[in-house]
Amino acid sequence: MKPYVISHMMSSVDGRSLTDGWHLKFASDVYESTAASFKADGWICGRVTMQEISHGTDYLKGLAKNLPVERTDFFAKRDASQYAISIDPNGRVAWKNNTALDSHIVEVLTRAVPDDYLAYLQSIDVSYVFGGDTDLDLAAVLDTLARELGVKRLIVEGGSHVSGAFVNAGLVDEVSVLIMPLVDGRSAHPSSYEISMDAWKAPTYLQLTSVERADHDAVWMRYTRTSRP
Ligand SMILES: NC(=O)c1ccc[n+]([C@@H]2O[C@H](COP(=O)([O-])OP(=O)(O)OC[C@H]3O[C@@H](n4cnc5c(N)ncnc54)[C@H](OP(=O)(O)O)[C@@H]3O)[C@@H](O)[C@H]2O)c1
Repeated sequence: MKPYVISHMMSSVDGRSLTDGWHLKFASDVYESTAASFKADGWICGRVTMQEISHGTDYLKGLAKNLPVERTDFFAKRDASQYAISIDPNGRVAWKNNTALDSHIVEVLTRAVPDDYLAYLQSIDVSYVFGGDTDLDLAAVLDTLARELGVKRLIVEGGSHVSGAFVNAGLVDEVSVLIMPLVDGRSAHPSSYEISMDAWKAPTYLQLTSVERADHDAVWMRYTRTSRP
């Protein structure tokens, strides 16, 4: 059964999602505490965000010894209390170990990744699943995570391209937006959901379920997905 998927993003009042230069010390605490209230089995981030979290620049090459590594899903751990799910089609995140923010890491890859990357992940006990040959099928990835790891509830925590991809694929059941008390205004900065014009299918219609004044003048809005109004 498809896990229940919550998209959780924080943004400025003008909807921008990059927090650098905001200088709001409380922002990540409010974001993380609201995220924790969902009691999810895992959180999903895109490759760019995961590279920020991993602080890794490169991984040890040569471990495959020029031999092909079988393209089968690999689970180093199946009983984690939380999973950090990294959407990394080309195998670029240089994890240093198998834990990110107290969660067991699961890399979501295409079969086109280098053999050395798979050998490296195995060497540090990072789990991985394949979501396609060259492109990811996110619905199939959710099926694999539910079937193999028993996850029932997942949060998509950005950035904006991964959030856009899940929304555009119709896989998000609930949208949670935390509006921080500032206008950003940088025109080049992305909004909370970025979908390329050629991939965009339709708007995602929402029904408001709650509005709360959060700490530090943030506003927390929650919506469920609905059919066209
Ligand atoms: N405001 C917030 O709540 C919030 C939350 C999280 C992160 N952030 C910030 O957002 C920034 C990064 O956001 P971002 O949008 O640039 O990057 P991102 O969503 O973190 O990662 C994007 C990358 O993920 C991979 N990816 C995403 N969707 C895919 C799909 N459907 N199929 C295949 N691959 C897919 C691609 O990797 P490849 O390029 O390798 O193909 C893509 O370039 C960071 O600075 C972070 O701090 C903000």
